[in-house]
Amino acid sequence: MKAIIGTLKSYVPEESEESVKERLGIKRLVRLSANENPYGTSPKVREAVLNYIEHYDANLYPDGNASSLRSVLAKYWDVAENQLIIGVGLDEVISMVNTTYITPGDSIVISVPTFSEYALNGLIEGAVIREVPCIYETGHYDFEAMRAAVDDTTRIVWICNPNNPTGIYETIEDIRTFITSLPATTLVIIDEAYIDFVTSCKEPTARKLLDEFPNVCIMRTFSKAYGLANYRVGYMMSSESVTKYIQTIRLPYNVSTIAQVAAEAAFKDELFLKDTIHKNDIERALWEELLQKLEITYYTSEANFVFFSVPNADALADMWLEQGYQVRRGQRPDWLRLTFPATEDGIVMRSILRDYMASL
Ligand SMILES: Cc1ncc(COP(=O)(O)O)c(C=O)c1O
Repeated sequence: MKAIIGTLKSYVPEESEESVKERLGIKRLVRLSANENPYGTSPKVREAVLNYIEHYDANLYPDGNASSLRSVLAKYWDVAENQLIIGVGLDEVISMVNTTYITPGDSIVISVPTFSEYALNGLIEGAVIREVPCIYETGHYDFEAMRAAVDDTTRIVWICNPNNPTGIYETIEDIRTFITSLPATTLVIIDEAYIDFVTSCKEPTARKLLDEFPNVCIMRTFSKAYGLANYRVGYMMSSESVTKYIQTIRLPYNVSTIAQVAAEAAFKDELFLKDTIHKNDIERALWEELLQKLEITYYTSEANFVFFSVPNADALADMWLEQGYQVRRGQRPDWLRLTFPATEDGIVMRSILRDYMASL
């Protein structure tokens, strides 16, 4: 066994829905701890998957190149097909990037708090993780401090935009200035898992940076706005010189045909995507309004979740859980991350929050 493995804690998955319901004696549990889509999945996905199952057995391996999905994505993004790595969710793509690029002793620079998989996968490969705290007051990345943390051992810098769990969006201008200051040998990976939820500007994506910098990679997932978390499809766009190496370690049949078919159908259903974004916008505004009114400290979210701080946050999380609402704890003491629920649940949850704050 690699020595590092003995020092790592294995991922603790969410307690299963059935187990939580049984433990608390509740009939319904709404999971708002994993930033999934509360509005379900496009009906076009169900149609496409049923159509596929009706016509094909499962005896043959899937198309290892995910050709049809690849072609649709490449056309949409105006990139060559070989600039795409398609994986079993971004989780797999993050793992592949680390396997490909990290040699023990290399360093990785991340802002904290951020998505835990960046550090975990780096550690598995023997990387030194340099954590740079975000600016506490605003939640924004401290790009200057991140630049100072980069040296000639730094193989990867992660930018999660909007960031999980802060929900903070960094502008393309700020990201461009930051990248310009970095060595060209350091990969800058911009994880846009939540970018579809950004509505404060017309073109939030860093797509155009791909053409400007050969060391930029952009990640996207179908798990969030597309409501496809269960099928596990994510992808990365980068220069051919990056993808060609990652392709060599990708497992040959990583993404199942059902997942490929589902992702393609989801990608083409623009109406479902727009509807999800619109509903999220409405709920986000309602939450923000209440957080302000109750004078709760929070970061201005451009995602489908909000990160905020209340006294004795566990007590509030317990109160919500007893009513069937599970939120994410443990990312910072007395801070919680809540995925915006659908309308009716939002009304109930905000009423519980008002009562909780009044009881303090
Ligand atoms: C920022 C970020 N990146 C990547 C992922 C992983 O997404 P996927 O479901 O595509 O593996 C998540 C999941 O929560 C995430 O929050």
